[in-house]
Amino acid sequence: MKEKILVVDDDRDMCQLLSDILTTEGYEVFTAECGKIVLKETEKIRPEIILLDIRLPDKNGLEVLKEIKKSDENIIVIMLTASEEVHNAVNAMKLGAFDYFTKPFNNEEIILDVKKALQNRRLKIEVEELRKKLEKSGNHELFIGESPQVKQMLNQIKTIAHTNVTISIQGESGTGKELVARLIHQNSVRSGAQFVAVDCGTLPENLVESELFGYEKGAFTGAAAKKEGKFETANKGTIFLDEITNLPLSLQPKLLRIIQERKIQRLGSTKEISVDIRIVTATNKVLSEEVKKGKFREDLYHRINEFNIILPPLRERKEDIPLLANFFVEESNREFRKNIEGLSGEAMKSLLNYSLPGNVRELRNIIRKAVLLSDSDYIKEIVLDGGFISGAERFDYLSELGKGIPLREITHKAIKEIEKNVIKKVLTQTKNNKVMAAKILKIDRMTLYSKIRSLGL
Ligand SMILES: Nc1ncnc2c1ncn2[C@@H]1O[C@H](COP(=O)(O)OP(=O)(O)OP(=O)(O)O)[C@@H](O)[C@H]1O
Ligand SMILES: [Mg+2]
Repeated sequence: MKEKILVVDDDRDMCQLLSDILTTEGYEVFTAECGKIVLKETEKIRPEIILLDIRLPDKNGLEVLKEIKKSDENIIVIMLTASEEVHNAVNAMKLGAFDYFTKPFNNEEIILDVKKALQNRRLKIEVEELRKKLEKSGNHELFIGESPQVKQMLNQIKTIAHTNVTISIQGESGTGKELVARLIHQNSVRSGAQFVAVDCGTLPENLVESELFGYEKGAFTGAAAKKEGKFETANKGTIFLDEITNLPLSLQPKLLRIIQERKIQRLGSTKEISVDIRIVTATNKVLSEEVKKGKFREDLYHRINEFNIILPPLRERKEDIPLLANFFVEESNREFRKNIEGLSGEAMKSLLNYSLPGNVRELRNIIRKAVLLSDSDYIKEIVLDGGFISGAERFDYLSELGKGIPLREITHKAIKEIEKNVIKKVLTQTKNNKVMAAKILKIDRMTLYSKIRSLGL
């Protein structure tokens, strides 16, 4: 089938020219002369590529670009601009345009660019499909570890995965709770259906209910069309309720009812829908404590806690660190196309001496960074996850926010970073005289030594 290209330009001659050269190349070409109709035409034609003029008579090309990308991320947009509008073209690239051409352009270059873009698109789709296949085939998730605690837990998973008991997973941030939940799903008879993760921690309270239960059209202001809730999506599969202690008290009876009856009602509907789901929850708090504090219903606690898996922090199973570190070296080698053999003895020692408050997630970040930065066959030294204060790192953290990293962990890292910077500065000032540094900081010498060690200074 011919690949389709939509050319959008108010200059009819330009449309004709592009249409001619691209048709000769074997593409099916459509044209549009104003911005308003682009979305409609796009839906009708479903082009792989849109060549879009930045200056259109009725609409700003950048706006049109935004709309296109919102409707389908995979459509490639190449911008056409007059030379005085190059700054706009740069903005367009930021908004997701593949490339831009200033008029007048070289025909050959446009043809080449279109070919490159299509190849890029094909690759992206192939990778996506591969990933989906992998996800479906099951068992691709590996829980790495050889400590007795991990071995015991993997055995537990084997035993309970095929049952339907409700499982609660407890562990500090980054210990692998979600990974365990996925493993349970993959090892169960439900693996052919969906694993649906809901982060009860990041959703605003008023959205949790509609996300979980879905709604009918008109159930509340803004409910323009009916929407399936996560419980329905997870039918025949597994629903993973992350940060369950953040589930508002007002919604807890509803969850209790679902667990007991396996039936839901969409908001704005009285119809009951049966759902066949396995429920797995996770929290980094101690659930029974939350019950004592009155933040979590006791009856619900007993229901979700039919089976409890506790993930110990990495500092309590240090024997897992080398294996995990090497696993992440391999993973990062693939990601960054590098060929790092592993960690030097010195580097491994400093890892083992560090408390890893962010657990496996932090270890993974440290190794990824080390692999990326390493210019020899081995990772010689470990750069701790500092730099939090610097712009680039801060951006990273903000982008991690959506993944549900608790405030506590972020603050913890920030404090560590501040401590590290302050101590570093004082040590430089005192020319590494630790006795003097401890005096200036008003802490005792032993505390300073232990901080120097744990902060990797
Ligand atoms: N034992 C392990 N083997 C391999 N990868 C692991 C292991 N444990 C954790 N990971 C990886 O570490 C990262 C963090 O794990 P995960 O998201 O499951 O943690 P979490 O306990 O859900 O954290 P949070 O409480 O912050 O949500 C993920 O990239 C996960 O794949
Ligand atoms: Mg998680």
